[in-house]
Amino acid sequence: MRKTVKNNVSWVGYMDWELETFHGDEYSITNGSSQNAYLIEEEKTVLIDTVWTPHRNDFVDNLKKEIDLKKIDFIVANHAECDHSGSLTALMREIPDTPIYCTEACVKSIEGQFGKQNWNFKVVKTGDSIEIGNGKKLIFVEMKMLHWPDSMATYMTGDSILFSNDAFGQHFAVEELFADKANQCLLWKEAVKYFVNILHPFAMLVANKIKEIKNLNLPIDIIAPSHGAIWRENPMQIVEKYAEWANAYQENQITIAYDTMWEGTTKIAHKIAEEIHKQSPDTVVKVFNISKQDKNEIMTEVFKSKAIAVGSPTEVNDVLSSVSGWLSFLKGLKFKNKKAAAFGCYGWSGESVKILQERLKAAGFNVIEQNIKSLWKPTEEDFNKIPELVKALLV
Ligand code: FEO
Repeated sequence: MRKTVKNNVSWVGYMDWELETFHGDEYSITNGSSQNAYLIEEEKTVLIDTVWTPHRNDFVDNLKKEIDLKKIDFIVANHAECDHSGSLTALMREIPDTPIYCTEACVKSIEGQFGKQNWNFKVVKTGDSIEIGNGKKLIFVEMKMLHWPDSMATYMTGDSILFSNDAFGQHFAVEELFADKANQCLLWKEAVKYFVNILHPFAMLVANKIKEIKNLNLPIDIIAPSHGAIWRENPMQIVEKYAEWANAYQENQITIAYDTMWEGTTKIAHKIAEEIHKQSPDTVVKVFNISKQDKNEIMTEVFKSKAIAVGSPTEVNDVLSSVSGWLSFLKGLKFKNKKAAAFGCYGWSGESVKILQERLKAAGFNVIEQNIKSLWKPTEEDFNKIPELVKALLV
């Protein structure tokens, strides 16, 4: 069922209440999500994006109830990833000659995923535009690596709507459609989680792209992303947040993330937490067991932190596999300007602390020398080293 966004612009996407994970199992979904597609009915009828492949038949059937598909003059594919282009195969069977406006990289990506189908692609670059009647036009803005090489945004003049695709979205199902109607606590929780876990590796590009969009001097009344709620009240609030988040963001917080075999490493983690609070009562302390808690939520807390402490016991000359995988994810997110410390128990060879330090350095953290390395189980002597470690993290 369509929902009005503004004047002749409607939402025609899919509200994905049942979704539990995204990008395989890389991203946890806890409050549903949506794939937002939009229908513009001016003198020209334009479809902006489609929905994920499993919902392609429902998408086309629902669209048929709203309009005669043959009335669609053209399609804009802002992004080739299958959560937005995955219904094209079903749609194009109905209207095979309809032009598809997208970037050059998008053509390659769509053809790579769905095969060459001789679709009528029209390649566009930043600044290209098309008239849609009633004095309005669509202006295209390439969003390369935000977050794929083919990503693009489309700006509609007259109604001043920026169809931003993945940028400024959230994995959050909002039946009421608009950010001002959504639960604000959940909205911002999901917006920051989405930024950290999907866009943070490209934070530098985010900052530059925001400058570029501002320099276009286009009025923006609505930001309509491809996931989650649409920003219509003070839409620039999410742009300003992105600018802040993209600039080596941190709060007065320290996050401790660890895994354990026989609870020795847990005891060190808890003592570090207590000591942080003792030395700096205003510092927020978060403690997570990597194998038991949601990795995307942990990364969001790491993002907010000025320092982290990471723990693992040694197992067969290495860190635990849960911690190893987590460190790979951590490296990929490219955090900046954060300190890190390592800790862990061992029984035989005891490599884990050194490996943690090396991998944290490789992930871009400023690793402090102080560490806690406990043979068998933490002793009073080990615990007595914690105040120095915490002091170094807090400085
Ligand atoms: Fe929502 Fe990059 O796809």
